[in-house]
Amino acid sequence: MSAVRQSFIPARISILLLLFSGLEYSFGIYGKSRFCPSQCSCVGDLMDCSRRKLEKVPEQLPGWIVQLKLSNNNLDFIPDLGPVSENLTLISLAHNKIGELNSEQLKPFQSLETLDLSNNNISKLKSLSFPSMNLKYLYISNNRISSMEAGCFDNLSSTLQVLKLNRNKISSIPHKMFKLSQLRLQHLDLSRNRIRKVDGLTFQGLVALKSLKIQRNGISKLMDGAFWGLSSMEVLQLDYNNLTEVSKGWLYGLVMLQQLHLSQNAISRIRHDAWEFCQKLSELDLTSNQLARLDESSFVGLSLLGKLHIGNNKVSFIADGAFRGLSSLYALDLKNNEISWTIEDMNGAFSALDKLRILSLQGNRIRSITKKAFSGLDALEHLDLGNNAIMSIQENAFSQMKKLLELHLNTSSLLCDCQLKWLPQWVVDNQFQTFINASCAHPQLLKGKSIFTVNQDDFVCDDFPKPQITVQPETQSAIKGSNVSFICSAASSSDSPMTFAWKKDNEALNEAEIENYAHLRTQGGDVMEYTTILRLRAVDFSNEGKYQCVISNHFGSSYSTKAKLTVNSKLTIKAIVYLLTDTSSG
Ligand SMILES: *[C@@H]1O[C@H](CO)[C@@H](O)[C@H](O)[C@H]1NC(C)=O
Ligand SMILES: *[C@@H]1O[C@H](CO)[C@@H](O)[C@H](O)[C@H]1NC(C)=O
Ligand SMILES: *[C@@H]1O[C@H](CO)[C@@H](O)[C@H](O)[C@H]1NC(C)=O
Ligand SMILES: *[C@@H]1O[C@H](CO)[C@@H](O)[C@H](O)[C@H]1NC(C)=O
Ligand SMILES: *[C@@H]1O[C@H](CO)[C@@H](O)[C@H](O)[C@H]1NC(C)=O
Ligand SMILES: *[C@@H]1O[C@H](CO)[C@@H](O)[C@H](O)[C@H]1NC(C)=O
Ligand SMILES: *[C@@H]1O[C@H](CO)[C@@H](O)[C@H](O)[C@H]1NC(C)=O
Repeated sequence: MSAVRQSFIPARISILLLLFSGLEYSFGIYGKSRFCPSQCSCVGDLMDCSRRKLEKVPEQLPGWIVQLKLSNNNLDFIPDLGPVSENLTLISLAHNKIGELNSEQLKPFQSLETLDLSNNNISKLKSLSFPSMNLKYLYISNNRISSMEAGCFDNLSSTLQVLKLNRNKISSIPHKMFKLSQLRLQHLDLSRNRIRKVDGLTFQGLVALKSLKIQRNGISKLMDGAFWGLSSMEVLQLDYNNLTEVSKGWLYGLVMLQQLHLSQNAISRIRHDAWEFCQKLSELDLTSNQLARLDESSFVGLSLLGKLHIGNNKVSFIADGAFRGLSSLYALDLKNNEISWTIEDMNGAFSALDKLRILSLQGNRIRSITKKAFSGLDALEHLDLGNNAIMSIQENAFSQMKKLLELHLNTSSLLCDCQLKWLPQWVVDNQFQTFINASCAHPQLLKGKSIFTVNQDDFVCDDFPKPQITVQPETQSAIKGSNVSFICSAASSSDSPMTFAWKKDNEALNEAEIENYAHLRTQGGDVMEYTTILRLRAVDFSNEGKYQCVISNHFGSSYSTKAKLTVNSKLTIKAIVYLLTDTSSG
């Protein structure tokens, strides 16, 4: 940036600058006049010789320098600075052409704490690269490092606190890399390398490490114990890799972990017990993965978790107890998933989240909101339902949220009938208008009108276009091997096409045998009635569960009650009969 700026300095000012840089003395912080070489500028104890196209360092450096900047020059090795070296605490050699690190060249820098070698041409870290020295901050980002020898940082083990190796070509971390414990290392950056697999015990020895960045590597395999030994680690960044599952195998030993960042991977599975070792976790980011379901076990043990990000996945199933243990959760992001069914046919998934303050549900194709949808969310302050083509909202759906401050809604699909009459006034009373853009799609007369401009008396129920369940499926018990069917019917005043689906234990039955019928019911006006029959052939115990039909049209979905199927073996029945006859004869 500033190189560019310099080249645009007008000619007159350049002459002035030339005049000034000819001054060989400047005033240091102590007021004493100090020697400053003409190629450099000096402020306090810092001498800045960056951006001078230097191929070597000015001769006779003054003895007062403590910090030296030589970045953006053409140096191709670590310079010999003579006696000045011994008191330097910082040297920046970023953006040069240094190709090799060598312990002899570094030896004179006995007070050095910060060494910046980023953006050079270093390709190898050999085991003798560093002499014993007191380095605390070492930056070797953006070089060409493809190989590191085990133990290359051993001589820095009692002082090094920050090590940046990001943007190199590292493809593997050697076994026993940190074999001499790095007692002080707190931050290690390995992001943007080419590590595809992390073996067990790779980081053993990093006893003080607090954060590890290893995102953007293309990691597809984390072996069991990959992070074992990182017993102080609080932040682990694994975003933009190719991970497919979360398991306790690779989380083993991360007992202090507070933040785990896993966004932009290919995770489709969270193994049961995954969090056994990570009970201190306060933030978990799983944005942009392939999760399709959240099971009862998905978040077990995370009682301190405050923020959970699951946006941009494919979640379509949330088990009833999926969030049960998350007693500290205050922010939950579920945007851009497919959880319309969970919201529309609420089965208590959110009810345990009584500390939740922020819930993002935008982009989930939610069409209707029942009055139980958010029950239990008594502390909610911010609810985002934007980008859902919502058609109906039952009265009192939000009424238990006494602390609600923001409700975001944008829909142009509302079914503006008598059921929705309450909404405009409620929005106004609660001062949510600024977040809400809601207009009617039905009835025809109100189409396109904002709910705030519709007259109260125009919210009427002349028809019922949304399907209404008329026949509920029935609970039954069956003998193993027999055929079973469930029947479900719904009626609607609209001739918009119906779709039928069946769910078992809240999950869609995709391969089921289903028959659907439509018939005109004539009494009480022309009404279409639809029946769907689910057939289960030769049932066995795996068919046991709760069955439910979902009947949808353009105006929304209706969910039947859940009918339970129990399956008995013939043997059990024979045994019961036998026992009965046996006792009666005895
Ligand atoms: C380094 O600092 C020490 C102590 O302040 C001083 O005695 C010594 O002269 C300095 N070295 C150089 C080369 O100036
Ligand atoms: C970097 O080092 C390689 C040899 O390792 C050399 O061929 C290349 O020219 C160097 N690049 C620069 C910019 O100095
Ligand atoms: C550590 O430093 C010492 C002396 O500075 C040197 O002799 C030794 O080779 C170095 N060891 C490693 C592993 O770099
Ligand atoms: C990640 O996995 C996908 C699919 O398996 C593959 O196409 C892609 O190249 C992988 N990316 C990296 C960086 O390995
Ligand atoms: C809601 O708003 C967003 C952005 O303002 C827009 O992209 C989206 O189409 C809107 N959705 C609906 C259902 O109106
Ligand atoms: C409301 O939504 C409509 C249609 O989606 C859009 O044209 C309009 O700009 C939105 N208004 C506001 C205030 O966002
Ligand atoms: C179950 O249905 C199949 C296929 O229609 C039929 O062949 C079979 O006889 C039926 N079983 C019973 C016990 O009714």
